[in-house]
Order: sequence, then structure tokens, then C-alpha cells
Amino acid sequence: MATSNSRSCLQYLLHLAQDNLDFRLPEIKALLALRGKPFHPSGNFKEKSPFWCLDGLSEEDVCSVMSRSVCAKSAFELWGHGKTHSELRTSLLNYPSENMSPFMQKDSTYRINVYTFNKTLEFADRIKRIDAMEFLPFEGAVSLKSPQHCFCLLEDYGTDPNDIPEHPNYIYFGRWIADGQRELIRSHSVKNRHFIGNTSMDAGLSFIMANHAKVNENDLVFDPFVGTGSLLVACSHFRAYVCGMDIDYNTIHGRGRSSRKDQKWRGPDENIRANLRQYGTEEMYVDVMVSDASKPVWRKAALFDAIITDPPYGIRESTRRTGSHKDITRPPDSHVPVSQAYHLSDIFTDLLNFSAHHLVLGGRLVYWLPVYRPEYCEEVVPLHPCLRLISNCEQTLSSHTSRRLITMEKIKNPEELDSLAHLADPRFSPYQGHNAFREKYFSGQNKKMFSQAIE
Ligand SMILES: C[S@@+](CC[C@H](N)C(=O)[O-])C[C@H]1O[C@@H](n2cnc3c(N)ncnc32)[C@H](O)[C@@H]1O
Repeated sequence: MATSNSRSCLQYLLHLAQDNLDFRLPEIKALLALRGKPFHPSGNFKEKSPFWCLDGLSEEDVCSVMSRSVCAKSAFELWGHGKTHSELRTSLLNYPSENMSPFMQKDSTYRINVYTFNKTLEFADRIKRIDAMEFLPFEGAVSLKSPQHCFCLLEDYGTDPNDIPEHPNYIYFGRWIADGQRELIRSHSVKNRHFIGNTSMDAGLSFIMANHAKVNENDLVFDPFVGTGSLLVACSHFRAYVCGMDIDYNTIHGRGRSSRKDQKWRGPDENIRANLRQYGTEEMYVDVMVSDASKPVWRKAALFDAIITDPPYGIRESTRRTGSHKDITRPPDSHVPVSQAYHLSDIFTDLLNFSAHHLVLGGRLVYWLPVYRPEYCEEVVPLHPCLRLISNCEQTLSSHTSRRLITMEKIKNPEELDSLAHLADPRFSPYQGHNAFREKYFSGQNKKMFSQAIE
């Protein structure tokens, strides 16, 4: 909006969803980084709060973040705030009138909404709150149906549903600017997806992964464990070209048993391309192929802007790789190669090495790491001297199990590493957690708990 450039000292308020708390900060930081902007919270920043105030941004920056974010619900230009209604009033009276006036003109229409977090207000109390804002110099007419400008009074009653205070802990008033993309969670739900499998990634998390990876228009994104392509669906929504591979012939070709309760076999055209077609992004589909991630087929070059993936944990899909045993011979005329176990530690070491070679500089790797919580420590997260760890967010699955969304950025080409120094480099730490993880997960009770948790 033209007026925003001439107005000064603006602060913006983000209202965030209270799920996937760990994923919110890396998402907003990544989306700001796409605009070349740092994350500057103002005042008393609390990461777990549903409200964040940000400094140093333009309205265009905020709109750009909101056009991608699935963690943020809405954004406001913050006009005033305080611990009490009287503090809010003082703050609003001190807000520069030149910042307000473009939205309060005689010929304009407006409405005021009241939003309360962790408390429900009676209708009459809402009206009282709105009436109390009369001291603001609104000159336009109220329009409840289609106002030109929307304002919101937001009251924060804390995050404990068992201890709701009588009065709000904090109050904000601002001009609504944009909503986030929460609607994508519903519109792209795997429940209504054309082609799904047992491990299809949840839509919200797929979009979060694409955001953590800073997937941008015209990027080339690769998923080495592509399955039914949920991550490609999310990346293609952000207009990236997408490709992937999977060891499973049936998955890549959309054949075999269906994962739907009421259907025995997959129907015709149940495949990844059809998924993209369902969401109108088929033109971003490059291709997928049957291949083993442990034996990459790509030429040695920095080919991908982002690699985002959900590797197999060996629970509902096996961790296999191609290979022969002396005593196993390949069945005649079979397209299924002989396979052997692919240990979790090797999967992650291979993934990091592959990313170091095939990401462009500045490109991101985003992947899930399964974790046995009682034994988790930061040291189990694999590192690589060519990749900088950006974020490590936990999604709890049960009291003992979780998975961590790891984001890394390529900072160096492998050719720049001195080979001997590289081996001695403590930052190169292949995944250490898998012995404890496998022993506990793949034995009796834990295996059952983990399977139930990710159902
Ligand atoms: C957790 S699933 C990925 C699910 C996918 N994100 C989706 O939304 O459908 C892991 C996938 O890795 C595949 N896989 C297992 N071992 C592999 C290997 N060695 N190379 C390539 N893919 C492999 C499995 O067939 C499975 O489809």
C-alpha cells in the first residue's frame, strides 16, 4: 500500500497458531530471510506466546510472510498495547496520528473485531470493548459485512487453560493486514488426496517443511524418499519444480495395494503427478524414478535448490537398499531388486553427504530424524562440515518417542574440504543415536508405542 512507505516506526503483531510451537520461529525466520530481512522481535519476546511483536519490517514484508506461513494466523499493524485497558488507551493516544489517519477518513468504512486468547467473552462484553474504543478518531462509517479497514482488539489470557485470569495479561490493538495460509491444511488434507500411502506426510507439516527449506518460485526441489509425494505437493504450491525417487516400484508407479480402508488395489492414475494435478500444479512436476538413495545416480553437481524428505524409520515401511547376498539370487523377470537392510545411521550419513554434493550453496536440507526421547541429546543429530545446522524442532509422538525436523544450509562445497582434515573434523558426526534408538524402538513395547503414535 502506497501509504505505508510514508509512515514511520511501524511495529507489526503476529498472531500465531498454538500447535507445532517449535516450528514457528524457524518458519517465520526463513520466510523473512526470503525477503532479506532479519527477525527482530520487540520488547518482551516469548517464543511460546501466541502473539509476537516484530520491528524493522515493511507492510510488504509482513504480507509476503503471511502469503506463505502456515504457523501464523493473522498479522496486524500494531497501534497500541498495554497490560491494562488504561495502558492500551495511553499507548493508542501516543500513536502518531499520521499513521492512523489514512485508515480513518470520512469516506472509508471500517469494523472492529474482538479476539480473546484462552477465554471466551460474552457478546455483551465484546460490544462493551468495542464501544470503549470510541475515543479513537474514526471518521468513516461502520460496515460489518465488507469494511475497507479491519481493526482488532486482542486480549491475551495466558496459555494455561486451567488458570485463566479474570483480566487479560496483555492487550493489543491494531489494523488487520493479512491472514496466513492455515486454510492450506484443510484444502490439502491427505484425507481428500487422490494418491496416498501409509506414511503420507500431513499437509500442514509438509508446508512447514517447504517453508523451513526456503523453497522459492522456480527452485528445483528433490525428495530422495518421495513415497506418495506429499512434500512435492507442498513445494509445487510455492511454484518450485519438483522431482523425487523411491526404492519402491509400486509407489512410484502407483500400483499395488491401496492404503484406503474401502479399496483393495490402487486405481488407475493414482500417482504423484495426479496429486499435483489435483491441486493445479502439474506444470511444476519434473519426474520421479525408482532408485535407491544409498546409490545415487545423479551426476556430481550442485543440482538442487532444496532437498526435503521424510526418510523411512523402518516401522511402516522397511529401511531397505539394493544389494545382493551370496545366497540370494534375483528372481527371474522381476523388477524388484534384491535388497538388504539399510541402517538408520547410514541413511542419515548418506543423506548429509548427498546434500553436501548436490545442493547449491545456500540451499537447504530439511528432514525428519526419529528420536528415542529418554536418550536424546544434541550429539545424536548428524553434522557435516559443508552444512550448517539452522534449526532442530521436536514433534512429540509419545512420552518416549518424537521426531525432529532438522534444517541445514549448505555453506561449503565438498571440494573445498581438505580430505584428511575433514575426517578429523569433529563437526562431521554421522548419526550416533541409532543403536539405542533401534534397540529400543524395534523391540516389543516401544515398537508398538511408536507405531501407534504415528498412526
Ligand atoms: C516415510 S516414507 C516417505 C513418505 C512420503 N513423504 C509421503 O508423503 O508419502 C519413506 C519412503 O522411503 C522409501 N525408501 C526406503 N528405503 C529407500 C531407499 N533405500 N531408497 C529410496 N527410497 C527408499 C520407502 O519406500 C518409503 O516410500
